[in-house]
Amino acid sequence: MSNKRWKIGLVGVGRGSGYGKLFAEHPDCQVVACCDASEQALAQFQKELGLADSACFTQYETFLGMPMDAVFIGTPIPAHADQTVKAMEAGLHVLSEVTAAATVEDCRRIVAAVRKAKKIYMFAENCVYWPFVQEWKTMVAAGRIGEVFYAECEYLHPIRSMIVDPATNAPRWRAHRAPLHYCSHSLGPILEITGDRIVRAMGAGQGHRVLPAGGIGGIDIQLGLFETRKGALIKLLRSSVAPRHPSMHYYMLQGTKGFVETDRLGPRGPGHLYVEGEMETAQTIPLPMIDASLPASARAGGHGTAEYALVRDFLHTLDTGRKPDLDEIRAMDLTVPGLVAHESAMRGGIWLDVPEMT
Ligand SMILES: NC(=O)c1ccc[n+]([C@@H]2O[C@H](COP(=O)([O-])OP(=O)(O)OC[C@H]3O[C@@H](n4cnc5c(N)ncnc54)[C@H](O)[C@@H]3O)[C@@H](O)[C@H]2O)c1
Repeated sequence: MSNKRWKIGLVGVGRGSGYGKLFAEHPDCQVVACCDASEQALAQFQKELGLADSACFTQYETFLGMPMDAVFIGTPIPAHADQTVKAMEAGLHVLSEVTAAATVEDCRRIVAAVRKAKKIYMFAENCVYWPFVQEWKTMVAAGRIGEVFYAECEYLHPIRSMIVDPATNAPRWRAHRAPLHYCSHSLGPILEITGDRIVRAMGAGQGHRVLPAGGIGGIDIQLGLFETRKGALIKLLRSSVAPRHPSMHYYMLQGTKGFVETDRLGPRGPGHLYVEGEMETAQTIPLPMIDASLPASARAGGHGTAEYALVRDFLHTLDTGRKPDLDEIRAMDLTVPGLVAHESAMRGGIWLDVPEMT
């Protein structure tokens, strides 16, 4: 328990609700305000958080006037840059949903604002917090599968009704989010494990068979290929429309001594590990998604105990004043490659440099 009780405000009801529950239960902070542009969503938010009318806002700028220390941004991606910049200008710390922003220019604006305000910015990439990712990180650091020279990640999750409203056929904000734009759940764990960053990207995929009204968000499937600073190759496969059940996150790392991978139906099943000289063939391994040492309430944020551990790290960062591992630069390492790879896909698959946000 720290000396200070951090005052937290939340914007964007969907993701804000899960994080709101975790913040509300944590002894080191209190939820003091919430904001949502929709009156209906705001009413739901208010009920969930048990806040007074005077602590609930539809106008983000008015909400920022509340006495608070930090804002959780859970709004659609195109709103992240403006809301982060305004929060920084108001002297507030930020925990931002993924991905960081919708354009490379917006990524630069966020980095500049954080640098100017000297406040904490943390990127809420929850998949990095799955316990098996941290286990693999330790295993790779110990050299068990040797030097990683190739990795694969896939995220296939049909969310067609979140791209086009089925009742009206009107496009929603995700119609402007290309599959490859949403890359941090996939690249995040791989780069966390290898401690690497992407320097070049290429992409492919422009087909529109499944959801023709879905804009770039409805592209059937996209493939990204990335080259890292350490000289490894990463393949990313992304779709938000391809029929698939269950939806699937997949991760694989190939090293000079062996490989480790999750199940093709997603990380709920057992994974596989092969180490040359240590075993004849690949063995199944457990893939923990939940940290069993945490209380049952730690699952309130969703995705196992990932969000709980993330909130704990964010509050620890506020206590210490030290930059988090998932700071504004790392946020862009996990956001910009997908933006660049989609641009490559639109330009016929040429290799493009991924700018570093130093
Ligand atoms: N980490 C994860 O696992 C995960 C899962 C789902 C979504 N997300 C991310 O969460 C964010 C929100 O996604 P969503 O599906 O909840 O979006 P959504 O479209 O449901 O919008 C969330 C809320 O934000 C409100 N809103 C929209 N624009 C606003 C603005 N300018 N100011 C205030 N409120 C505004 C909407 O009224 C809505 O209630 C996105 O960044 C998305 O990528 C992350």
